Amino acid sequence: MLSRLLVFFALLLILIASQLFWVRLIGKWATSLIPSALWRRRAGLAGWAVYLLLFTYNLLPSLVGAVVNLSSTPGRARSVVPEHRTLASALFHAHFLGWIRGEGNVEPTYLTLRAALLQAPFEWWILCSLLGFLIAISFGLADRMAHAVRWLYHKVGLAGRAVPLRNPVSLERRRFLERTALAVTTAPFVAGAYGMFYERLNLEISRRRIKIPHLPRAFEGFRIAQLSDIHIGPFMTAKEIRRYVAITNGLKPDLVALTGDFVTWDPSTQSAVVDVLAGVKAPFGVYGCLGNHEMWAKVEDSIARLFAGRSIRILRSEQALIRSGGEVINLLGVDYQSTSPMGPRGQRLVRKYLEGLDRLMVPGTANILLSHNPNTFDRAAEYGVDLSLAGHTHGGQVTLEFISPDLSPSRLITPYVRGWFEKPGSQLYVNRGIGTIGVPIRFDAPPEITIFELARS
Ligand SMILES: [Fe+2]
Repeated sequence: MLSRLLVFFALLLILIASQLFWVRLIGKWATSLIPSALWRRRAGLAGWAVYLLLFTYNLLPSLVGAVVNLSSTPGRARSVVPEHRTLASALFHAHFLGWIRGEGNVEPTYLTLRAALLQAPFEWWILCSLLGFLIAISFGLADRMAHAVRWLYHKVGLAGRAVPLRNPVSLERRRFLERTALAVTTAPFVAGAYGMFYERLNLEISRRRIKIPHLPRAFEGFRIAQLSDIHIGPFMTAKEIRRYVAITNGLKPDLVALTGDFVTWDPSTQSAVVDVLAGVKAPFGVYGCLGNHEMWAKVEDSIARLFAGRSIRILRSEQALIRSGGEVINLLGVDYQSTSPMGPRGQRLVRKYLEGLDRLMVPGTANILLSHNPNTFDRAAEYGVDLSLAGHTHGGQVTLEFISPDLSPSRLITPYVRGWFEKPGSQLYVNRGIGTIGVPIRFDAPPEITIFELARS
């Protein structure tokens, strides 16, 4: 608990420092860009008004909710998750659960003016100002180190030679370095806007041929479409999902696999997402598994029932035999499983992944597993599952994988962040999903629908 509290306060300090940094920097820019003191004051007041409005709207209810969470006794708590007792977890739940799940305040499944004008700009600002600040700190440290090295070089290396200390960095070069530092520091804001308005909605259709040597002949060329991580909400509206449903149907798959995270936090959105996904059609059926957000929103049973009512079968440690031409392939599905805690407490942890899956395997044919968490792949390979379809990572959502695969937040939770992986006798595909979590931004991880074509060779 102490370590979590320390991490929380460290993050809070970084956030405060980043805000002070940007307020000072913007103040300096205003001084050089707006010559009139009167207009500078007016712009400053307008800026402060917007800044305080965004922070008050987005954080005040969370702080109040956190205090309520902490001060309530478990039996009488108004909070959604009363078992949370640290400031960090109380704040988290007040913001992401209590706030949107408060009385009469449910998460909308369409883009509201409040979400567009108050929530999205705030989340964009927080993420980008933090990243910009961290880049500025890195530049500052590199600059200090370069100074120190130069100082040492002249003090130690040239000691006794009576060489005058010259400044090796010319004024022009210094100006160039300062401009570069400024451009890199402000780049996250431009990248964030691009990720919010363009890349987040720039769907990519991935096509992949999957070779399964013992695939029954009748399933040669069988096409499976995978949709994942829908996260219905104001930034993944029912209307937007309908567009993805139409695209999926247009791909003419034989079967559709939905690999979890249909909702985000709010249970009241489950009917809307099921209604829209009921539009997905495939001759061999639509199947799915549940994600961690169904577990956190406590809708696993209810959403599985809603899907069943719309002829979509959610496989919960179950199998479905897909038959064609007198032959069969085995489709398996499991609920979200994790061996280490992440997110809200009280989640279901497993000692070992895919316990009991061996009982559902069918020897001699293709076994295809739907499992939201890609970390089940190692165990699936041990069982001899031919193909695992997963989601969960959003492909990192905001990454710099084009520079290095290590520059992705999802690397903290899994080595299987996106795309295709192989082990002897087993393959995994991690779909980047279509929705977002936390901030409505995608960068270097566009939304994806995958269409697989099964082949014997
Ligand atoms: Fe997700």
